Amino acid sequence: MKNGYVLAIDQGTTGSTVLVFDHDGAVRGKAYREFTQHYPKPGWVEHDALEIWEVTLQVAEDALARADVQAEALVAIGITNQRETALLWDRQTGEPVHRAIVWQDRRTAALCDELRERGLEPLFRNKTGLVSDPYFSGTKVRWLLDNVSGLRERAEQGELAFGTIDAWLVYKLTGGRVHVTDVSNASRTLLYNIFELEWDPELLEILDIPAAILPEVKPSSHVYGETDPEVFFGASVPVAGIAGDQQAALFGEACYGQGLAKNTYGTGSFVLMNTGTQPVTSQRGLLTTIAWGVGDEPVEYALEGAIFVTGAAVQWLRDELQIIANAADTEHLALSLPANDNVYFVPALTGLGAPYWDPYARGTLLGITRGTSKAHIARAVLESIAYQTRDVVEVMVAESGIPLKELRADGGASVNTFLMQFQADTLGVPVKVPRITETTALGAAYLAGLATGFWKDRAEIDAKWQLAQCYRPGMKESERAALYRRWHKAVEHARAWDA
Ligand code: G3P
Repeated sequence: MKNGYVLAIDQGTTGSTVLVFDHDGAVRGKAYREFTQHYPKPGWVEHDALEIWEVTLQVAEDALARADVQAEALVAIGITNQRETALLWDRQTGEPVHRAIVWQDRRTAALCDELRERGLEPLFRNKTGLVSDPYFSGTKVRWLLDNVSGLRERAEQGELAFGTIDAWLVYKLTGGRVHVTDVSNASRTLLYNIFELEWDPELLEILDIPAAILPEVKPSSHVYGETDPEVFFGASVPVAGIAGDQQAALFGEACYGQGLAKNTYGTGSFVLMNTGTQPVTSQRGLLTTIAWGVGDEPVEYALEGAIFVTGAAVQWLRDELQIIANAADTEHLALSLPANDNVYFVPALTGLGAPYWDPYARGTLLGITRGTSKAHIARAVLESIAYQTRDVVEVMVAESGIPLKELRADGGASVNTFLMQFQADTLGVPVKVPRITETTALGAAYLAGLATGFWKDRAEIDAKWQLAQCYRPGMKESERAALYRRWHKAVEHARAWDA
């Protein structure tokens, strides 16, 4: 076995996770810490980028200590991150000029409506593969330049740097020497042409964003620079992998062949299907996105169904309704019922993402009777996760023309046996859970290790993917169809509620 370790930073929406992997792809150490969420107004979500940096560095130290590995023993660092979250900082001082605006933030809904009304959505879709929704970074940057005094002038004079969280972490790790992002993160900004592989001058002009703030775009597996020993525990380690967290999970799930797909069950759920070097454009609400670029190889694309609220609805049961003590309780509550008794929940708590894209939809509970219990509500929440997944998978299969043979599942809720079985039943295909469900961090580690020669190629990595559990579909077709019909009826009730 080769000596050395790869450190993967998974900088997520609610916290930072750092894992230390060995050459077998086994986890040698792991640490996690949450950081503060700021909600200055309803629908607004912000992060303090300096806090993210400090927490991430602390977590890296903890993970190295738990692995009993010195920073000098690291052969590479891979970074994966919450995508779309937008940040501007001062190039001279390295200080953020405002809190980062988080992907969940809805403050630019009116600007997105305006782009749509001006007939610009097809232009954006044809160049970026995205839709006109506040989710993406571009309109957030525009908001900062328009609303924070002095920023536009400073941006035009080249004093400011823009980045998603990957770019911020690379900048900090390298002591402010490197300002880059990777193709997968760039593809989420609404500013990057995913076919021409360049920042798009026309889109920058429409959104009135100066090109001077943009990072250089590099492959996802590439040596971007070395850590500054003053910052990173006395060691100079190559930072060699960057990918948005959902693309990294696709990589960590070894979905390398065209048509292979995964779903990561986190706060939201993100279904990605690898479509190879050919981008598939969607007319029905999916996103076309860059999966990754490995070194000099041609970039690969994915079709994505971005579902905003899945695990977050379970958190809502726990924190707001307080009908469960922890997320795992939903499993036995759901299993305590033989059926859903027609109780449906549409978790449109922050509107609906793919394939509906309705920022004005709201959470809706239907079919309550005198006998409805918390078990029904817990079950309806879990079922809604599976139905939403089917919503995006159906469009994916129709638009790509590639049938889905299986779905690989990871993320926190992939341990929920009710959900996984119901997912297989709802989709009508096997759902496979791998042994390492930290696939996001694993993907970032693999990308970094490939760039530095720690792993030879994808075939070597693919051989490491191991199945832990396979859930096979067992539901009668008539039942499957009836449940799904009702779900769609429920969705109609949730739509445009807050318009
Ligand atoms: O697009 C948003 C996604 O990248 C967020 O992922 O895992 O931080 O909730 P997560």
